[in-house]
Amino acid sequence: MPKKDKNNFCYFNGKIVPADSALICPDDLGVLRGYGVFDVMKTVNGKIFLFDEHFKRLSDSADYLGVKLPAKKTEIEEAIKKLISKNKIKQASIRIVLTGGRSADAMHFNSKTPTFYILVSESKPLEEELFKNGVKLATVNRGRDMAEIKTTNYITAVKNINERQKKEKFFEILYVSNGVILEASTSNFFAFAGGKLITPKDSILKGITRNLVIKLAKKKFEVEEQELKMDELNLVAEAFITATNKDIVPVVQIDGKKIGGGKPGKNTKRLMEMFAEFVKNY
Ligand code: PDD
Repeated sequence: MPKKDKNNFCYFNGKIVPADSALICPDDLGVLRGYGVFDVMKTVNGKIFLFDEHFKRLSDSADYLGVKLPAKKTEIEEAIKKLISKNKIKQASIRIVLTGGRSADAMHFNSKTPTFYILVSESKPLEEELFKNGVKLATVNRGRDMAEIKTTNYITAVKNINERQKKEKFFEILYVSNGVILEASTSNFFAFAGGKLITPKDSILKGITRNLVIKLAKKKFEVEEQELKMDELNLVAEAFITATNKDIVPVVQIDGKKIGGGKPGKNTKRLMEMFAEFVKNY
């Protein structure tokens, strides 16, 4: 159980309130049916990193649900800034959640009364060792439901991580459907193969970090959004994953099989430098 902290505030249905007084009703469709979407952002140099892109994805996710975002873009930005200041956050991790709201029959909802909240906490940087030595992934034979939108359904990831991670010592799971590599638990997947940078195109969440990495990589490499199969892994010289809370993390093993001799590759390192440079100047 997280510790109670009366100094921790969140934005809940239009108001900034102490986080432990923000109560979601038991008849909320987000809880009853998993009818919810979310987005995760962060601050860089005191600014919300790629806010426009994240907001667009959140709006698209809300549209898919048929739920009206109950706050304008500027209101959301304002609320985030207030939370950062009230919670005395240095580097923020920002989580915005939207559900269908309360439902009398556990099915129908009023699109005008969703549950909408924003949590802001201190972001914990990943251990340096992961960037230096890379991480291992373990496959799961399935894809995410409605992968293109950021739904709150992470059952496969949470279940596999809780059941297997301690024993198998992997960092994230890798979704593979009919032999096709899709994405990781909370990241996108990239591979250098045949001199090209390849990243899956379909049945994935189009990560904001992924989109930026594609843009940066195009300055230096040939980049292709295309299908990549597990049985093509022997052609892969380097691999890495990307996400808001990770930037670029090299992948050195998948299901016990070494990638690039088990060490982060030079192209990946180059991209990590380019990414760090972009962040520094943001
Ligand atoms: N997850 N794919 C999935 C399934 C994800 O959950 C995420 C991000 C990504 C990467 O997207 P982005 O680059 O926009 O962060 C890809 C966040 C970080 C999370 O669930 O905590």
